[in-house]
Amino acid sequence: MEVENSRLEIRKKINSLVKQFYELKDETFVPGQTHILTGLAVYDDLELNAIFNSVLDGWFGFSKKGEEFEREWAKYVGTRSSVLVNSGSSANFLALDGVKKLNNLKGGEIITAACSFPTTVNPIIQLGFKPHFLDVDKSLNVNPEEIISAINENTKGIMIAHTLGNPAKIAEIAKIAEERGLFLIEDCCDAVGSTYEGKNCGTFGIASTCSFYPAHNITLGEGGSIAINNPELCKIIKSLRSWGRDCFCRSDEHKELGACNKRFDYLLGGIYYDHRYVYSQIGYNLKPLELQAAMGLEQIKKIDQFNKARKRNYKIYQQELEKFDNYINLPEINPKADPVFFGLPLIVNNPDVSRQDLMKFLNSNKIATRFLFGGNLLNQPAYKNIDYLKTGELDYTNNLFKNCFWLGIHPGVTEEMIKYVISKFKEYFSKC
Ligand SMILES: Cc1ncc(COP(=O)(O)O)c(C=O)c1O
Repeated sequence: MEVENSRLEIRKKINSLVKQFYELKDETFVPGQTHILTGLAVYDDLELNAIFNSVLDGWFGFSKKGEEFEREWAKYVGTRSSVLVNSGSSANFLALDGVKKLNNLKGGEIITAACSFPTTVNPIIQLGFKPHFLDVDKSLNVNPEEIISAINENTKGIMIAHTLGNPAKIAEIAKIAEERGLFLIEDCCDAVGSTYEGKNCGTFGIASTCSFYPAHNITLGEGGSIAINNPELCKIIKSLRSWGRDCFCRSDEHKELGACNKRFDYLLGGIYYDHRYVYSQIGYNLKPLELQAAMGLEQIKKIDQFNKARKRNYKIYQQELEKFDNYINLPEINPKADPVFFGLPLIVNNPDVSRQDLMKFLNSNKIATRFLFGGNLLNQPAYKNIDYLKTGELDYTNNLFKNCFWLGIHPGVTEEMIKYVISKFKEYFSKC
């Protein structure tokens, strides 16, 4: 007891020191000197202490905190369950592998966008499907009309992202999928909090994914999640995440014979075997650490506040950048959509403006910029020899490949920073 009390006292001291350490963080913005980043982990001593306490607890592998986060995340997204994994890329891979196993699919075509983050598309190739690439429209998303024209007898599903958080016409796309018996996986890595027709992105398809890498709506350092309504799919994906095991006990399972109530009664090859060591899937290990979930449990409390800051930042930029619409545009936003943008997409629309030169100017003024991921993936070296289909000439995708870039609007971006960025645009465009 005495030892436990001493350990508790030391823990309190550690927590207090961590708080002091955090409070000394200098967040002064010095125009032209402080980098304005495209993504940033926004946290305080609560997250730091959640991580430290998790480490001090001495249980590192995915367990109770991971499961608690899964319940909280499902509640937030609005699905029956969620599965926590080590990245958004793993989430995309497991979502598709799970759907493949659930529906016993052996291949076929999956409709997606050529203007994508690579790991939205990579699972399609890695899991033996053929990507069917479509163009995107001025919302940066694949639209329903294009999808209808691309569907053929080999089409099995649709796997698309809401680009940079701007919702695709996802209710219409979900309807098409349902009517044609196709599955729909929404990559919501950039679209957490965005809604369409008042409904959360991530609730329209059979599964949706998100990323918890620092640039995203909340961060666990690294991490991702799959949001699911179908209990069978959830079970398959959990199994795939955890070596392919058949056991579905929770970490707090108290029944001696496990949740299945027959832990030692599984007959394998004529031998009684422990259910914990029965493998029903060809699985992987894509689990995150408890300390990541501990951080996530603090971050999730702040998500509404973070999303509000993103929306505020987008709105200020939107109002200010209208003045420069002879040079740059923002994407179109569907009237049914209420986006929480991941970044601020800018499309150079004037042949006299060089995107490269503008980005160099911004970067030299400490304003970080990013490309729209792979732009047109078909121009990327990794995709040179893949087996694929495309519908149309991907004209707008190629325009984005050539002319689009984005800036940070995460909650660490302040109004003062935006004012500075706008002043730099003014300076640059005054010389055009
Ligand atoms: C649309 C999209 N999908 C997938 C990912 C992959 O997420 P992660 O970096 O967590 O693997 C990202 C990453 O930013 C993304 O933007």
